[in-house]
Amino acid sequence: MRIKINKITKEMIGKELTVKGWVRSVRDQKAFAFIIINDGSSVEGIQVVMNSDLPSFQEILAKLNTGASVAIEGTIVASPGTQEFELKASKIEIIGECPEDYPLQKKRHTFEYLRTIAHLRPRTNTFGAVARVRHAMAMATHKFFDEKGFKYVHTPVITASDCEGAGEQFQVIIEPAKKDPSKEFFGKPTFLTVSGQLEGETYACAISDIYTFGPTFRAENSNTPRHLAEFWMIEPEMAFADLKDDMVCAESYIKFCVAYALEHCKKDLEFFDQHIEKGLIERLKHVLTSDFARVPYTEAVEILQKSGKKFDYPVEWGNDLQTEHEKYLVDIHFKKPTIVYNYPKSLKPFYMHVNDDGKTVAAMDVLVSGVGEIIGGSQRESRLDILEERMKAQGLDPQDLWWYSDLRRYGTVPHAGFGLGFERLIQFVTGMENIRDVIPFPRTPGHAEF
Ligand code: 4AD
Ligand code: MG
Repeated sequence: MRIKINKITKEMIGKELTVKGWVRSVRDQKAFAFIIINDGSSVEGIQVVMNSDLPSFQEILAKLNTGASVAIEGTIVASPGTQEFELKASKIEIIGECPEDYPLQKKRHTFEYLRTIAHLRPRTNTFGAVARVRHAMAMATHKFFDEKGFKYVHTPVITASDCEGAGEQFQVIIEPAKKDPSKEFFGKPTFLTVSGQLEGETYACAISDIYTFGPTFRAENSNTPRHLAEFWMIEPEMAFADLKDDMVCAESYIKFCVAYALEHCKKDLEFFDQHIEKGLIERLKHVLTSDFARVPYTEAVEILQKSGKKFDYPVEWGNDLQTEHEKYLVDIHFKKPTIVYNYPKSLKPFYMHVNDDGKTVAAMDVLVSGVGEIIGGSQRESRLDILEERMKAQGLDPQDLWWYSDLRRYGTVPHAGFGLGFERLIQFVTGMENIRDVIPFPRTPGHAEF
């Protein structure tokens, strides 16, 4: 029976078993050969020793190219080398040969190059590790919210409303409607969702605490290491909750994910610490023991103005915080994750609760080192009259969102929620610099191959 390589332990020394995987490297020592096999179950492969007295030794060896798939039967033996054990082969079967033009030879490749072979890059150590951490973070997400009594709600991918009001939506169009608008499939223009929040709120205002976890789409023409046109977002929404509750939830969710990664992805994190970001594990442990800083936007602006630092973008009340500002707050001033809250009303979408000062809204952004904004959230405007005023002020027709307003018309409650960019979480936990390298198939302007 086949065993996954990550399940083999030194307690199995003396046992006979079969592993299946892909050849990473071969070292021919004449009397025997060492083969490293990896099946993707962990960053480490297993070393296989193949004695030259094995039947068809030369013939098999000639076909053991990097990338070939193999099944190997053998016995786990104590290893004289650096590893604790190795597999002494009694039978090697080549399942799929791999010709010399295989693009992933042993040498290191740049991430830029690997993006051009996104169908093969999961076979590399880095992308295998990212895939495992991504899986672990999805599991952690469901575990966290489930344990807190949140219900997982599936919000639609196709929608007629623009939650963030930023006009960055991809339109859904069928061929006949291009010529004749009366043939519009849904009877009106529809788009790929930028956020499941508005639909999520309807369920929060019925079954209390919910979360969504799905793909979202934004036609942002920003070619940055933090933006994708298609990304995954987790959006919890809590009924009978205010901005403070929102911050508490956001902080404990991030800490839960970090703790989960430290516990479940130990070897992968060690790999990232060694090859991607020196000190990663220390940084993550520091997150666990820090109380996130909380600072009102107005105070954050003052801190930046008093910093004596020359910024490229001017720091003025009413301007959005830029990456350089976020970096200063998180890395230099507070030296830990920082929640900036109560932003100017003009910077934020219509649905946010207007504070008593009339100038700010109960919004919050969680900023972390290396990534910047990982979470954006707010308390929602639960007062119908103010909500409709805000819609109009932002050029929206309240009629179009009649169902959203109904939530305030019938048994309104204070409620709050946030969105966490899943890829930014993966960047945060792995130290990977470019968001294109933490999603299997990145979609960015000009790129939708694979
Ligand atoms: O701050 P945003 O735009 O908030 C919302 O969409 C709210 N509706 C969320 C809510 O309150 N339910 O986006 C939330 C998060 C950001 O903080 C960021 O982490 C991520 O989504 N994000 C992106 N990630 C990758 N590529 C992009 N283009 C992103 N835009 C936002
Ligand atoms: Mg935001």
